[in-house]
Amino acid sequence: MSEKISLAAGVAERRSPVSQKAQKFTESVIREMTRLAIEHNAVNLAQGFPDFAAPEEVKEAAVAAIRADINQYEITWGAREFRRAVAERFHRDTGLEIDPEREMTVCCGATETMIASLLAIIDPGDEVVVFEPFYENYGPDAIICGATTRHVRLHPPDWTIDAQELAAAFTDRTRAIILNTPNNPTGKVFTLAELELIAEQCRRAGAYAITDEIYQFLVYDGFRHVSLVTLPGMRERTITINAMSKTYSVTGWRVGYAIAPPEVTNAVRKMHDFLTVGAAAPLQQAGATALRLPESYYQQLCVNYQTRRDRMLVGLEQAGFRCFRPHGAYYIMTDISAFGFHNDVEFARYLVREIGVGVVPGSSFYRDPASGAQQVRFAYCKKDATLDEALRRLEKLKR
Ligand SMILES: Cc1ncc(COP(=O)(O)O)c(C=O)c1O
Repeated sequence: MSEKISLAAGVAERRSPVSQKAQKFTESVIREMTRLAIEHNAVNLAQGFPDFAAPEEVKEAAVAAIRADINQYEITWGAREFRRAVAERFHRDTGLEIDPEREMTVCCGATETMIASLLAIIDPGDEVVVFEPFYENYGPDAIICGATTRHVRLHPPDWTIDAQELAAAFTDRTRAIILNTPNNPTGKVFTLAELELIAEQCRRAGAYAITDEIYQFLVYDGFRHVSLVTLPGMRERTITINAMSKTYSVTGWRVGYAIAPPEVTNAVRKMHDFLTVGAAAPLQQAGATALRLPESYYQQLCVNYQTRRDRMLVGLEQAGFRCFRPHGAYYIMTDISAFGFHNDVEFARYLVREIGVGVVPGSSFYRDPASGAQQVRFAYCKKDATLDEALRRLEKLKR
């Protein structure tokens, strides 16, 4: 009896205080860099949130919604008016008619939308294909679902995909591929030919595509954003994810959505209900106003971002970075080999402490840190004054 007790106590001692899944997570490097930027009073070009104002009419709509007492739980899968506005916008952008009653779920940002979507379709042991370099959430998302990730390289300088490498990543366990276009961190906008290759693999493997299209409106140089769902045979196997965060400069509002076939939507809604119940009711109301902004809003947004990108490309090259020219989103991946640092983390820490600019070390976008050891990412979703100050500080690198 006493031996049994001491054995049990021994087992209890050996057990980690946190779950195996939690042990697999590392702290987000992006958030660490933000913390260091605050500590050193650096210009933070690490995290991708705008430091300029959201559109006036969108803010007013949120205030009006709160004043009108839209302050209680909404329908768990999203406010009807917001879903209607999303369906209208989706029709304008893709030509597809979707039923907002049966094919849409509103969640708390693209982040929760992605995890609810994965939980809806993934069983432990399934495989998920992810392009590398990747947005840092997809790995932990897969861990939460018990899935294994398989990676397909985007090859610099243009971040091209190799058809054979893509085909090799699909196995009989592949359940889904995650596609982020326009892409974070590379700024790549996948071409129609590349989307066709991806669609072909999905159809062949009977796999889902989960597309993260949060930078949909930020596309430059004559490139065009194409939603994978519009390709033949993809409507029934695509979960299209988007959010208000980047398009309306409201990353703190946490309103996102998934568009998916009815059966999948049912499952996404269940996951979402038990994860968060619902996204903020008044902000969904304001979202309906935002999604119905005139086309000129989207054109101007894009022009403004392209101007920021061009200013940053010139400034960064002058400071000694080699830039991988992005055609979309609001990041610039750079090559730092000219500075002679041992690795990206060392360089990023030097930048934040000595130069006063926060960036994200490239290794945080790769499984093997060596792959990103000579890269760092700049976010340029900032006011002109912020970017100018960052570039002024970076000039010190030349001395
Ligand atoms: C590719 C990508 N997806 C999703 C997100 C997160 O979106 P949200 O703030 O709507 O959760 C980000 C934010 O940086 C992102 O870059």
